[in-house]
Amino acid sequence: MGEQAADGLSMTDAEIAAHDDQRDIGESGWSSLRALYAEEFEGTVLDAGGGTGIYASALDAAGLDVVLADVDERMLAAARGRDMPAHRVVQADVTALPFADASFDGAHVAHVLHVVEDWRRAIGEVARVVRPGGTVLVALGGTNQPGPVLEEISARVDEEVGGTETITRGQASGLNGPEEADHAFALSGMDVVAVRRIEGVQRRALGQLIDRMLVNPYRSTASRAVRAQAAERMSTWALDRFGSLARVIDVPVGIDYRIYRRRT
Ligand SMILES: C[S@@+](CC[C@H](N)C(=O)[O-])C[C@H]1O[C@@H](n2cnc3c(N)ncnc32)[C@H](O)[C@@H]1O
Repeated sequence: MGEQAADGLSMTDAEIAAHDDQRDIGESGWSSLRALYAEEFEGTVLDAGGGTGIYASALDAAGLDVVLADVDERMLAAARGRDMPAHRVVQADVTALPFADASFDGAHVAHVLHVVEDWRRAIGEVARVVRPGGTVLVALGGTNQPGPVLEEISARVDEEVGGTETITRGQASGLNGPEEADHAFALSGMDVVAVRRIEGVQRRALGQLIDRMLVNPYRSTASRAVRAQAAERMSTWALDRFGSLARVIDVPVGIDYRIYRRRT
């Protein structure tokens, strides 16, 4: 993927926590998300490019039978650590899924296609393994976290550890636009039937947001040592800029899904 975990090592608990914290949409957000899953899905669901399993857990909590597939062993190890049964965590490339045609009732693909070069083939594969009448939920791009303070911190983190460059490279090689997604799904026999946004809020201290961005190995390709050094400089900068790292801000977060249905 364009976003590479640094150092090529297993992710530490702190790194997994930092990655997942970005996805957190707060209690009411998760509750809305589980309701959406229960409404749109039934039976078996493939979480393609499922990463550490944060959405797979929510799918499971919504009463669905989830299989998580991801190419990155470090992510899979994190997913297994989340109590996903081993046989439900599969190492697989989304462009060549090891599953029979129509073997799932639905699929979930969140924040994945922008980092997959052959995203057209990935869409074809996801559509292939979903049965006629089945549903696919797709979230394009990365997590949506707007707001001026966060943008300023994020820009500074980019300067320190090169995140933007990494992420832009990833996006350049993958899928960006919804029209392209709709077109590729249509060619694979799936039509977009709805667009849904689930919103939430994160209350986070500024220091926590900074640490999270620096620790998350999917945010930057810099080594752990470089990120640790950057943390000291960032703290000095943030204290000077904002007065206190303990200042808590509300970060609006959300996940945008395009919902596709396989023609019968
Ligand atoms: C930004 S992460 C998103 C993970 C998870 N869906 C989430 O939203 O938390 C992108 C994921 O896609 C996976 N990925 C990238 N290319 C892939 C491929 N060709 N096949 C399967 N997984 C892939 C990565 O390993 C990573 O776990």
